[in-house]
Amino acid sequence: MVDALRTAGRVRSAAVEEAFRTVPRHLFLPGLAVADAYADEAVAVQFTAGVATSSASQPSMMAIMLEQLDLRPGHRVLEIGAGTGYNAALMSRIVGPAGAVTSVDIDEELVDRAAVHLASAQVSGVDLVAADGAHGHPPGAPYDRIVLTVGSDDVQPEWVSQLVPGGRLLLPLAVRGSQLSVALDLGPDGVLRCDSVRSCAFIRLRGAAARADSNRLVEELGVALQTPDDYPEPDLAAVASVLADPRERRAAPVPLGAVDVWDGFGLWLALTEPGAGRLLAAEPETGLPDDLFPLGSTGGTVALAAEDGVAAVVLAGPPGPGPGAVAVREFGPGGAALGDRLLAALDEWAAAGRPGAADWRLTVVPTGVDAPALPAPQVIVKKHCRVLAEHPRASSSAIRRG
Ligand SMILES: C[S@@+](CC[C@H](N)C(=O)[O-])C[C@H]1O[C@@H](n2cnc3c(N)ncnc32)[C@H](O)[C@@H]1O
Repeated sequence: MVDALRTAGRVRSAAVEEAFRTVPRHLFLPGLAVADAYADEAVAVQFTAGVATSSASQPSMMAIMLEQLDLRPGHRVLEIGAGTGYNAALMSRIVGPAGAVTSVDIDEELVDRAAVHLASAQVSGVDLVAADGAHGHPPGAPYDRIVLTVGSDDVQPEWVSQLVPGGRLLLPLAVRGSQLSVALDLGPDGVLRCDSVRSCAFIRLRGAAARADSNRLVEELGVALQTPDDYPEPDLAAVASVLADPRERRAAPVPLGAVDVWDGFGLWLALTEPGAGRLLAAEPETGLPDDLFPLGSTGGTVALAAEDGVAAVVLAGPPGPGPGAVAVREFGPGGAALGDRLLAALDEWAAAGRPGAADWRLTVVPTGVDAPALPAPQVIVKKHCRVLAEHPRASSSAIRRG
């Protein structure tokens, strides 16, 4: 497993490699065949009402995040999302006996199981706590590093206040429909700056900082419309009647693969176009044209939606592993105008060098802190912070303000 993580460039530093080689992952997944424990896959370990509520994360994602976290011997670390305890054990190995790892999980039963796993792996340097990580863990503060291994919609003030000056907060943060692993460094001005952004897909927080799903189901069509929380909520009945009125299908000049749709072009569109959203197949049979949902394993695509029209990216050829030909499908009387905007956005994204998640630079400004002067950021307003997103290669005039 570690050889493969190295070859793929996921493990880069000697410290992260040594930790992965030393801590036996299978001891954190008792009952699973050893070969399966070392496959590069997430392993769900708890389900609630059919939905995974805890998992041992995919080793390559863990490696990416441990590299982003940049742990040093002697660091004091808080992990939110103890799960099996495996990541806490890896971190404990890196920070060594001079450091300290505190790991909290909202689920007492999981914490009890993690304690058994850590004991069987003979890891003694982890302090496990059953608590809601929304509030951090004040007794151990301040921390050099705080890491969430669970997805969050916002940056809780407690996480920022429990960091040392210059400390780093690493979390899977929801950014307009994409989830991005962002490494945020706390500056003396109270602003958190991030140079390292990666795509990710984590289970989301339960407890005080949980957010209801923003999917809105169009029941009669078997699809859900997901729009960014800080964009105006569309009238669902109007969108439903528009979707029942398919019109033109126009070839797009830019080939796209599934990754491009979600965190490449999809993220670009969500950051630059008011009205951007995602259409997700909520049921296997949808009442929409067949070619609307070929992208990704669960089915879904990116779209511009308004009350008089929808324009969505659809596959124009047989689905394949790499980028393929796509078209823009228009619905309703306003679909043609939205189709024009969607095609223009595709051109702009291609002209900017097809940026992906890693190409965006994010700055998180906690509520009450003054925003730094930046040339032309896209601004995402959350309850506890504003997220400023800049694309280093994009000129300000090429971006429509959201
Ligand atoms: C992807 S798992 C973490 C994997 C873990 N780091 C490991 O190495 O196995 C996410 C965990 O976050 C926990 N969680 C969810 N909401 C939480 C909250 N508010 N506070 C603390 N933990 C939470 C879940 O119970 C789950 O165990």
